Amino acid sequence: MKNVVAIDGPGGAGKSTIARLLAEKLNYLHLDTGAMYRAVTLAALNKEIDFDNKTKLVELAKEIKIEFDLTGKVFLDGEDVSQEIRSEKVNEFVSKTAAVKGVREVLVKKQQQIAAVNKVVMDGRDITTVVLPDAEYKFFLTASLTERAKRRYEQLKKQNKEANLDEIKASIARRDKFDSEREHSPLTIADDAVVIDTTKLDIPNVISEILKIMSGDK
Ligand code: C5P
Repeated sequence: MKNVVAIDGPGGAGKSTIARLLAEKLNYLHLDTGAMYRAVTLAALNKEIDFDNKTKLVELAKEIKIEFDLTGKVFLDGEDVSQEIRSEKVNEFVSKTAAVKGVREVLVKKQQQIAAVNKVVMDGRDITTVVLPDAEYKFFLTASLTERAKRRYEQLKKQNKEANLDEIKASIARRDKFDSEREHSPLTIADDAVVIDTTKLDIPNVISEILKIMSGDK
């Protein structure tokens, strides 16, 4: 599938930031699929839906309207929820939402429709394996748990938010485990994906590594 870049990896590996910058450089659309699972989770929290009620979660995923603008802002039924979808409460429940097969079916269909009519950089957990297995370029970005937690901690501090490194580490580890062990579309490395460990690389270095690979220089 030409003009499609698929990026997967665990939470906090820098996927979304890198996908956004890469899309800017290539003049492609960026689709952060994690934001879609987060938006469904936020809608469920707002409606006080029980996260064990799979039927209700699937109905909700079908009902709500998730939109993105060109700056990466996320809108839920017309309201800007870019900040709210990153809250600790959403972090706590998003893996439960994402484990529901019917929710995934609704969102994956939307993701595939977007890729069918756009040049796109899409990032998530199952993009290289399930959503766009025929993508022209496939990457798996990772970093050590300690480094991923540190990045999240520094991000929160920068926003003057309360942060506890050990708690962040535990929360990321819990989500990694849940996402990797779930029954439907678990986080795995596609056989033909290029793995990039970003533990010791800054963002410009990761981007240039990816661009080198895409241009065939590597
Ligand atoms: O990438 P981000 O951390 O925002 O993703 C939030 C959660 O959404 C992940 O922990 C995972 O449970 C789920 N997700 C998924 N499949 C995707 C993207 C995200 O299951 N393609």
